[in-house]
Amino acid sequence: MKPLIIANWKMNPQTLKEAKELFKLIERAIENIKEIETIVCPPFVYLSELKSNSNIKIGAQNCFYEEKGAFTGEISLAMLKDLGCQYVIVGHSERRKYFNETDEIINKKLKVILEVGLKPILCIGETQEQRDKGETEKVLKNQLEINLKNITILNATLSIAYEPIWAIGTGNPCSSEDAKKALLFIKKIIDVPVLYGGSVNKENTQEYIKKAGFNGLLVGGASLKADEFIQIIKNSI
Ligand code: PGA
Repeated sequence: MKPLIIANWKMNPQTLKEAKELFKLIERAIENIKEIETIVCPPFVYLSELKSNSNIKIGAQNCFYEEKGAFTGEISLAMLKDLGCQYVIVGHSERRKYFNETDEIINKKLKVILEVGLKPILCIGETQEQRDKGETEKVLKNQLEINLKNITILNATLSIAYEPIWAIGTGNPCSSEDAKKALLFIKKIIDVPVLYGGSVNKENTQEYIKKAGFNGLLVGGASLKADEFIQIIKNSI
């Protein structure tokens, strides 16, 4: 399986012009790179403008679990599919924290993402406090148990992103040794591709892919700088 390198742009950039420019720079630079599955997850409003003719795939940062109807402000899976999305990030810690997404809500979302045939990237991870208390494995197990409840994965489309919350956007990445422990623990529970996320940059890319054996990376801040993100992709080969 090719490593999955995913750009999570979060609520950036602030104009469509900048989004298109960033996308184009990445698209051009990786035109001939076939060894990596590169996925860009822009804000919803840019999705229809960033259709890719190249080997970049498009993903969404979130979705709603209802099919359609009176749900002001929400986005359905059918809409995402119609715009050419192939991947959907689900359960990101920022959604859990700022939008009160519970493990049960994430479970509902996962079910419908798989039902419509899109590929979910399920994010799980512990807080600093939980890690300090030695609860990392317990937290991961609990999240997986509820998030994956009653889900029978018929095809190998699900990926899990191990994202220790304390490492996200802090410039304080998880050591590849500790990340590897989490990776092995997750793989014992479910044998699907596992990605690492949390302060990934071009310098530490190889540690996670080559040394720890992750199947890819979920990149936030560094994916907004074209040169840095392109180097992350190249270093993952
Ligand atoms: P970061 O974000 O790379 O900026 O730490 C990762 C993420 O939130 O997925």
